Amino acid sequence: MCASVLGSVCALLLLLREPACRGDEVTSSTVNPCCYLPCQHWGVCVRYGDDRYECDCTRTGYYGQNCTVPEFWTRVREFLRPSPNVVHYILTHFRWLWDIINHTLLREVLMRLVLTVRSNLIPSPPTYNSRYGYLSWESYYNLSYYTRILPPVPNDCPTPLGVKGKAGLPDPELLVERLLRRRTFRPDPQGSNLMFAFFAQHFTHQFFKTYNRMGLGYTKALAHGVDAGHIYGDSLERQLHLRLHRDGKLKYQLIDGEMYPPSVADAPVKMSYPPGVPPEVQMAIGQEVYGLLPGLGMYATLWLREHNRVCDILKVEHPTWDDEQLFQTTRLVIIGETIKIVIEEYVQHLSGYMLQLKFDPTLLFNTHFQYGNRIALEFSQLYHWHPLMPDSFFINGDELSYTQFLFNTSVLTHYGIEKLVDAFSRQAAGQIGGGQNINSVVAKVAVGAIKESRELRLQPFNEYRKRFNLKPYTSFRQFSDNEEIAHALEELYGDIDTLEFYPGLLLEKTRVGAIFGESMVEMGAPFSLKGLMGNPICSPDYWKPSTFGGKVGFDIVNSATLKKLVCLNTRTCPYVAFSVPKEDQSQRGKDDNEVRTDEL
Ligand code: HEM
Ligand SMILES: *[C@@H]1O[C@H](CO)[C@@H](O)[C@H](O)[C@H]1NC(C)=O
Ligand SMILES: *[C@@H]1O[C@H](CO)[C@@H](O)[C@H](O)[C@H]1NC(C)=O
Ligand SMILES: *[C@@H]1O[C@H](CO)[C@@H](O)[C@H](O)[C@H]1NC(C)=O
Ligand SMILES: *[C@@H]1O[C@H](CO)[C@@H](O)[C@H](O)[C@H]1NC(C)=O
Repeated sequence: MCASVLGSVCALLLLLREPACRGDEVTSSTVNPCCYLPCQHWGVCVRYGDDRYECDCTRTGYYGQNCTVPEFWTRVREFLRPSPNVVHYILTHFRWLWDIINHTLLREVLMRLVLTVRSNLIPSPPTYNSRYGYLSWESYYNLSYYTRILPPVPNDCPTPLGVKGKAGLPDPELLVERLLRRRTFRPDPQGSNLMFAFFAQHFTHQFFKTYNRMGLGYTKALAHGVDAGHIYGDSLERQLHLRLHRDGKLKYQLIDGEMYPPSVADAPVKMSYPPGVPPEVQMAIGQEVYGLLPGLGMYATLWLREHNRVCDILKVEHPTWDDEQLFQTTRLVIIGETIKIVIEEYVQHLSGYMLQLKFDPTLLFNTHFQYGNRIALEFSQLYHWHPLMPDSFFINGDELSYTQFLFNTSVLTHYGIEKLVDAFSRQAAGQIGGGQNINSVVAKVAVGAIKESRELRLQPFNEYRKRFNLKPYTSFRQFSDNEEIAHALEELYGDIDTLEFYPGLLLEKTRVGAIFGESMVEMGAPFSLKGLMGNPICSPDYWKPSTFGGKVGFDIVNSATLKKLVCLNTRTCPYVAFSVPKEDQSQRGKDDNEVRTDEL
């Protein structure tokens, strides 16, 4: 009797995440059997009674108590499926082969394969969220939540990650300090620059807008994808403040004859600045946090200019169109340009593939691809790419510290867009994977990510490995080739199966000459491609010239490049790219022919 009273007190405290109640107090007879994370191969764990469970293996291709026994065709498919590292190796080597493929129909066939194989890993319609570890109408319907690929670890488990590992997890500050904080800057071996880093941040923060005031696992970005809400605002009210209400254009101000976002005095929207920054010097931008960094202000300015430029072009084509139609059509053009640049330049650069990627929605028209997207919590965690940030910022011969750079409203207009693009395109970004590469100034963001993942009860890294068709690691030594990291993780976690999601992604051994390891690519690419191609403009009823104002608008989408985004909106054309200039990439190419045999 006493035990049951204690048990319910404990359960209550567990809900409130009282660490004292984890561990020995929960007797084995009361352990929720789903805490063992027993169901394999996408099987669904359902609890029956007190201590019984069933795995629902429907359509997984497996059967048995824990969905571990393959059906005949599953066995065949498993046997034939090449490992991700083999595929990656082929895609990043054999230039002569790809030079041929790029010019044949095989390019389209392979691109279609990339898109379908990747997006088949993402459930659509979406499934769980942070409140619902089972399917529910509320979870499907309420867009205020991020979705989740794997349900949370049940609340009433003996250990934070189910049944394995210690009663407590390592102190997040200690984890970050020992394993993630930068000692000396390590550039990305793929040559990524700050132009790439700020693009990543600018692009993704249209759909990563965690809304902590509402609660854990909520988002403010209700469109769940590429809606250009970072340009136009995430509400109609904000959009109306940002619009000029003439010719479809956005409000702007001229400084030294150049177009910049309007001041908050002119476009009264809430921007996040430290107290005391007067509205006259705050710039009004769709995304409220973009005053933080001149790199974000730079992209905001470029897209603002591009929007107004496209408006002028469409107005010539359609002199009868009103402000509203010009605005709405231009917005679709901007979304199209964004997806084009992201796939053909941003993802192309990031992947290192020699297959020339292609943004062509018609590739999916005869497949079972579902249009629609929901941003996942795991995607937001995974995209905390703060190691990209350098130790200081070099612009036009000046070196700016973080204190001089962050929230500095004068940097953007002082240097102007051309100088900033040139500077950011020439300065190397940090390698994301491999550990110990986050500048101290932003290291606390990683602490926050780890704390958040615990409160949201994210499943262990190895469970995500399995979910994305990767083999779980069997030891810390297999996971990392860095002796110090493997050793420290062993000491901190004890069991590889309790390594957490975010530390796993950032500390995994990197691929040879690559920006990060296997898991970041194999987990990140599905979310990314599903989000890009699941956009309504890619669907058969939208993907046609009339949607974009006719041939002229459609051509703008289909020929968009990063370079044009810059140089059609500046007076002179600076060096603009997602990687540092070739002559600066001294490290590059050296490792190119090395193979890491344990990868294959
Ligand atoms: C100096 C540069 C940067 C600073 C000062 C910075 C700072 C921050 C801060 C303060 C947060 C909120 C953390 C929290 O609420 O717990 C955050 C979130 C985030 N940052 Fe950064 N960051 C920087 C660069 C980047 C870059 C280059 C990326 C690359 C993609 C990035 C990706 C993210 C993501 C995905 C989130 C989560 C956003 C959300 O869920 O709303 N950050 N960052
Ligand atoms: C299924 O998983 C449970 C919990 O991990 C384990 O105890 C049981 O032996 C497994 N059953 C089979 C048939 O493998
Ligand atoms: C094929 O595409 C890749 C990636 O864009 C590029 O590196 C390679 O040079 C291309 N080859 C040809 C012949 O276009
Ligand atoms: C979504 O869920 C939250 C939390 O339960 C609630 O406050 C909000 O009103 C819901 N939104 C809708 C549209 O139902
Ligand atoms: C802001 O940036 C300018 C360069 O545009 C620099 O001279 C100045 O020191 C910075 N301001 C602060 C407060 O650091």
